[in-house]
This record gives sequence, structure tokens and C-alpha cells, in this order.
Amino acid sequence: MHLFQYRRDQLFCEDIPVKKIAEEVGTPFYLYSFNTLSNHFKAFDDAFSPIPHITCFSLKSNSNLGILSIFAGLGGGADIMSGGELYRALKAGFSPKKITYAGPGKTTEEIEYALKNDILMFNLESSQEAECINKVAGKLGKKARIAFRVNPDVDPRTHPYISTGLKENKFGINIKKAMEEFKRANAMKNLDVAGVHEHIGSQITKIKPFTDTVKRVKEFIKELKEEGINIRYFDMGGGLGITYKDEKPPHPRELAKAVIPILNDLDCTFIFEPGRVIVGNAGILVSKVLYTKKSGDKNFVIVDAAMNDLIRPSLYGSYQEIIPVLKKRGAGSMVVDVVGPICESGDFLAKKRKVQVLRQGDLIAVMSAGAYGFTMSSNYNSRLRVPEVIVRGEKFCIARKRETYKDLVRGERRLEL
Ligand code: LLP
Repeated sequence: MHLFQYRRDQLFCEDIPVKKIAEEVGTPFYLYSFNTLSNHFKAFDDAFSPIPHITCFSLKSNSNLGILSIFAGLGGGADIMSGGELYRALKAGFSPKKITYAGPGKTTEEIEYALKNDILMFNLESSQEAECINKVAGKLGKKARIAFRVNPDVDPRTHPYISTGLKENKFGINIKKAMEEFKRANAMKNLDVAGVHEHIGSQITKIKPFTDTVKRVKEFIKELKEEGINIRYFDMGGGLGITYKDEKPPHPRELAKAVIPILNDLDCTFIFEPGRVIVGNAGILVSKVLYTKKSGDKNFVIVDAAMNDLIRPSLYGSYQEIIPVLKKRGAGSMVVDVVGPICESGDFLAKKRKVQVLRQGDLIAVMSAGAYGFTMSSNYNSRLRVPEVIVRGEKFCIARKRETYKDLVRGERRLEL
């Protein structure tokens, strides 16, 4: 349940009309609801309260400091995948003891940065990476807690770009060959082999891929323990889906109900890395209609947000619901392509979409834009990245300012050769 609702035909975020914020900050902008964010975090975290666990919010879905500080304040941890995300996580107030570090290509500098901050665990993806971390840890006189990400070869039945747990994907180590890797790492002086990690994909809307994976990994953890490898953490990654259109994903409670009985006899702390399920429906992108035009039998609505602000429709062909900020009684509807100002045919937010008739100056809300929205935005076409605003009750705060032309060229210079 999110807190973007109509009150007498006006879209509100919690207790503020979206139009009012648009008048104050200009368009386009991302808008998040504080109470939706914290409710979603708590719903997930509480669902797993029967077992020892840490909910490590996945920064790649949304890494705004204001938002992160909400989850840090609720006792959450952080799932990071770069030095930059570690910097943000620490700045937002997450305890390093609750930070896990994933990703197939960590650099020596990033490893050093994370070791110096004594993070909870590195999730490794190759034997070369284990050697590298062992070396860096030795140099710093530290012991690095690590897990290997295993690839369970389970089909998450999601978009191929965001499916990661199949054996043909680049992620992790084939579970059948993983024992060798664990043993090799266990013999390295500066590594503490503490966990097993898996993450099979994103926007998963069925329970079965999760339970299949958990069963496989559980057996593997038992084998590791029998070999004398002291596994204390089972990191289950993220991936739980949300409703963009008509998907009916399980509630975290249902997921917990299905997996907890499988995990009960494993003596581990469980780590979860949810991203989308917490922030996805807690944020929208607000944009203004610049122009409308007809070309052949097609109607175009040109808005001031573009693929550089929200790339999911262009990149994955994903569906984001579009609704008017003000409903107009009797306005009628039309089928349109909602497109941005960028010079590419791939620049669209929706195609062949039935919407309320839109006119110049009307405001629209692109729904479910809180995850992989701003974090995947860019300055393409030298467009300024948009502000991020957080509403709490009747108040709002600009959690990230709109960029300026100066920001655009920061660090650049004219050639002096
Ligand atoms: N943990 C790991 C290791 C991950 O790679 C990911 C996401 C997550 C956790 C969080 O997954 P979530 O709970 O958000 O599904 N840009 C794509 C999604 C890419 C997901 C990448 N990994 C999109 O817009 O759909």
C-alpha cells in the first residue's frame, strides 16, 4: 500500500497535493513518501522477525541519503556494490557491521576501503577475487569475512536482463563446483569464510524460485559445515517483485511463511537484500506536458521528463503507470505515446497508452518509479538531473537539489594542449 492517493480528483502524496510541490520545485522531479518507505521496510523486516536476520537494503535501487537514513534509523543494513555505495551507506549512518558488499568486479582500492571500515562481509564471485581480497587483507593486517555467491541454476522467470541465477549468467559460482572454491578460500590465511550468498534475479513475482533456491543452498550449507567450514551467514539476496500493472507478487509475509520452515534447522543469521519491494512503489516521477502533437494516426504527448531521468521503459520495455495529477471530469481519454525531449526514438515513458486527454501544462505522475529510477538516471543530452523530494505528512524536504549548468561541467575544462 502506498500513500499516493487522489483526494477530490487531486493527487496527494501523504497530506500534500503533488501540484503544490510541483509549483515550488518545478518539474520534473522524483517524489517519495516517507511513511510508505518506512512501512515497506518494516513490513519486510517484521516478516522475518521469527529468525535471526539483517535486512540489508540494496542501494542500487535507490541511494539517496535522505532515504537511506530512514532505513538506517530503523536498524537496517546495506547491500552495496561499489566504493561509492559504501561511501553513501556510511554517510547515511548504517553500521559497518551491517554492510555486505556484492558485485563481480571489486577493485583493490574498493576492497581496501571496505576492509578499513570493517564491513560485515564481502560476497565474492570468483577465485581470483578471493586471492585479491586475501592479499589486500594481509597487507592491512586484517582478516576479511567472506561469502561466495553461488549460482543455483534456478529460473526466476523474470526479464532476461534482470535474471541472474541461471548457469549461463555471469554471476556467482556454479553450486556444483562451489565446494572446491570454499575449501580453497578456507585455507587462505587472511580470509574468514563466513557465509553463502545467492541472488537469482529481480522483479520475481512467484514464491517457487525462492523456495527452490533456498532448499538447494541449505543442503550446500550443510555439506560445508560437515567439511568443517564455519558458515554463520546465509545471504539470500533480494528480488521480490512489485505491482507495476497487474502483477500479483507475494507479500513479504507470504515469502517468509514459505521460506522460514525450510531454514529453521540451519544455525545461521539470514541476510536479505531487498531493494525494489521497499522503494519501488514509494516513489513517483512528476512531469509536465510540454507539447502535444498528432503524426499520422499517432498521438504524441511530449513531456519534460525523458529516458535519461527514467530509463526502465526504454531499456527493458517496462510498464510504468501514468496518471494525471489533476483528474478532469468529462475530459475523455485518448491513446498516446508519452515521449521525452531526447533526440532518440527510444526516448519514451509509455507507448500506446490510454490516458486522460492531456493538454499543454498538465502534470502527470509516472508511478512505481522509486526503484531503479533516479539511480539509473544520467546527464545524457546534457540534461540536468532532477531533484528528489521526500514528503512526510504535511511537510516536504528536498533531499537532492536540481542540478545546475555548473554542476554539469564540474571537473571538466577546456583543452589547453
Ligand atoms: N542483491 C543483489 C546482489 C543484486 O544484484 C540486486 C539487484 C539486489 C540485491 C536487489 O534486488 P531487488 O530486490 O531490487 O530486486 N535495473 C533493473 C534491476 C536490476 C537489479 C540488479 N540487482 C530494473 O530496473 O528492473
